[in-house]
Amino acid sequence: MNSYTATALGIDIREIDRRLAENWSLPTRFYSDPEIFSLELEAIFARRWQFFCPLHRVKNPGDAAVRQVGRFPVVVVRGRDGRLNGFLNVCRHRGYTVVDKDKRSCVRLVCRYHGWSYNLDGSLAHAPDAAGDAGFRSADLGLRRVAVDEWGAMVLVHPDPEAAPLRATYPEMFRTARETGFDIDANDWIPYREVVYDIPTNWKLWYDNGTECYHCPNIHSASFGDAFNVDPELTTIRLGEGFTSYTFMSRKERSSNNLTANNFLSFQLFPGMTYIVHDDFMHMTGMTPLEPGLTRHTAFYMGMRGVDEERLDGWFRIWDDTYREDNEVTAVQYENLKCARQPYNRYVAGREAPAQHMNAMVWKDCKAALLA
Ligand code: FES
Ligand SMILES: [Fe+2]
Repeated sequence: MNSYTATALGIDIREIDRRLAENWSLPTRFYSDPEIFSLELEAIFARRWQFFCPLHRVKNPGDAAVRQVGRFPVVVVRGRDGRLNGFLNVCRHRGYTVVDKDKRSCVRLVCRYHGWSYNLDGSLAHAPDAAGDAGFRSADLGLRRVAVDEWGAMVLVHPDPEAAPLRATYPEMFRTARETGFDIDANDWIPYREVVYDIPTNWKLWYDNGTECYHCPNIHSASFGDAFNVDPELTTIRLGEGFTSYTFMSRKERSSNNLTANNFLSFQLFPGMTYIVHDDFMHMTGMTPLEPGLTRHTAFYMGMRGVDEERLDGWFRIWDDTYREDNEVTAVQYENLKCARQPYNRYVAGREAPAQHMNAMVWKDCKAALLA
């Protein structure tokens, strides 16, 4: 499948197996080494379902949304038949971007470089002046497909067009969602705000942070830790194949404002999709690793239809502060660990099992690619 080998990358597979089993991290050079980054894009991000956008971005025929998925530029468009189509956003002529930004009600997808146009089903509609070109077969020049699926108010993409559907890939996650009553109807939610966080850190440091709440009482004492009771006794964590899920209790008494939530339930699908719902506030996020030391985290915040705008503002401030606090610490970790004098970090198993679970998934995918 690729040319990555453990020897060429200087990786001792047995040593990493042992370290992870003994609550150590992946080797810290994995956070900054460009070759490891490249391996991860191939072994993980080319081979898994990932967050793409909220469903409202592609609600009607002709609506198109664009986003980077791993190293793949992707466009998702709703066809005339009402179905979602996913394509590589790369023109079959000479590789320019076909759709440059999210659009509404397109009749065709038109590449602005030389004007090739595509139907909403990806077939080539017209290539200027190509009609008399010997051997030019429009039927062979449609956009290349990726797989698309939906979950509640969310669209997901898999770079492999032959990938098994989301529910067939993650039956345990969907069983957990059913058992916990996690059932999102896109019609109940309206878009509130979108924020793109570009974080100067490695995606795995971002991920560690987002999956453990060991840091919540310290780093988030005035944000998340103030809104929710982060006592591990009051938190339910579920770890399954490809996912983590959390339930938190809201604080009854609030020091800084009077927002409370009666329930909190989250799902994180590896790598990088997050779905967080509490009462009338929801957000879904995706993560794109751009460079070894640059990670894009995009959050779409939504409110339940009819909810008070001030309440949305309050919850948004809590979450936005929380993420900015996370971004700050993970950027510092990235810089510190680059010095390579600390070859492994040590987790606290009782408090950081979800982060370790995520690391095990990273390693499982990388190891499979190295042994292929
Ligand atoms: S690259 Fe798209 S029309 Fe030329
Ligand atoms: Fe955090």
